[in-house]
Amino acid sequence: MGSVAEQKLMAKDEMEGMDVSTEQLPSYLQQSDAVRERFAKIQQREVILEVKQLGKTYESAQGKVVALRDVNFSIHRRELVCVIGPSGCGKSTLIRMLAGLEPHTSGEVLLDGKPVDGPGSDRGMVFQGYTLFPWLTVKKNVMFGPEMNNHGKLEAERNALMWLDLVGLSKFADAYPHQLSGGMKQRVAIARALVNQPRILLMDEPFGALDAQTRIKMQTHLLDIWKNIDVTILFITHDLDEAIFLADRILVLKAHPGEVQEFIEVPVPRPRHPGQISSAEYLATKARLEELIHPPVEVSEDDEVKPHMIRFTNIVDNVE
Ligand SMILES: Nc1ncnc2c1ncn2[C@@H]1O[C@H](COP(=O)(O)OP(=O)(O)O)[C@@H](O)[C@H]1O
Ligand SMILES: [Mg+2]
Repeated sequence: MGSVAEQKLMAKDEMEGMDVSTEQLPSYLQQSDAVRERFAKIQQREVILEVKQLGKTYESAQGKVVALRDVNFSIHRRELVCVIGPSGCGKSTLIRMLAGLEPHTSGEVLLDGKPVDGPGSDRGMVFQGYTLFPWLTVKKNVMFGPEMNNHGKLEAERNALMWLDLVGLSKFADAYPHQLSGGMKQRVAIARALVNQPRILLMDEPFGALDAQTRIKMQTHLLDIWKNIDVTILFITHDLDEAIFLADRILVLKAHPGEVQEFIEVPVPRPRHPGQISSAEYLATKARLEELIHPPVEVSEDDEVKPHMIRFTNIVDNVE
């Protein structure tokens, strides 16, 4: 078994066949000394992002839709926070409001203590869809932001090459987006967001369209980048494993209306590695997330609807 990605995939496959009894697991609230110390240190760092009583109601032809209600949380400098929740619980709405792309209807968002009321270069965005300009080379895509912000062309080019090097794409500086794989395109998107030196990187399911193996490589790659630079990350996903692998803390939202259910400190120690997927801390966290995202449904045998079988064959020899 070769790469780390392959090993993690294998670990996942093995897990699915295992009957892991959640009763034997420790509580996800139980933290080792090292993990507790790490959280204590993070909490001493300054608060970068503060979200207070944030709400969003959309007015649509069908009437009002309360997408988010009374959302409160804050994130410290260099924290990596994942947001999870069922489809439609308001994850994209939240991140678009933090980016300043969508107005909120109540509450406020403070970045470094200043209210967010529109887009700004202090926030970098990476979306799921590939948002590179197809007519520009990789390097020109990354230079675009700095050039718009009136940095000189030479400086913009130097910075672009530095960030392309950091995401491992120096060799592709002169390639066009259509010549790259999905994972490479997202690496360019990360370089393009980071070149503006944002205070916070906002990522909305950035690896959602990638195949499982590329996705795991990208997660490891993102952690490597994050380790080396001073950036705070807010990462939206609906993949529980992705959230546990990446996050310091996981903000769990519930749907209709979108509200904060719990803000979980991930007890899995850093540095993270794929083998941790079968550790007690990992499984305890996963069990808690499952409980929050997929609460047990009370079903009685009487609710079961008998399948209605229709014969779609006219072969009449009755041999099955
Ligand atoms: N532009 C819009 N107009 C009306 N309703 C919207 C709009 N965008 C999102 N919604 C609704 O708001 C809720 C949250 O959507 P969204 O933020 O996209 O959720 P998620 O990203 O968690 O899947 C959903 O019920 C969705 O239908
Ligand atoms: Mg979404």
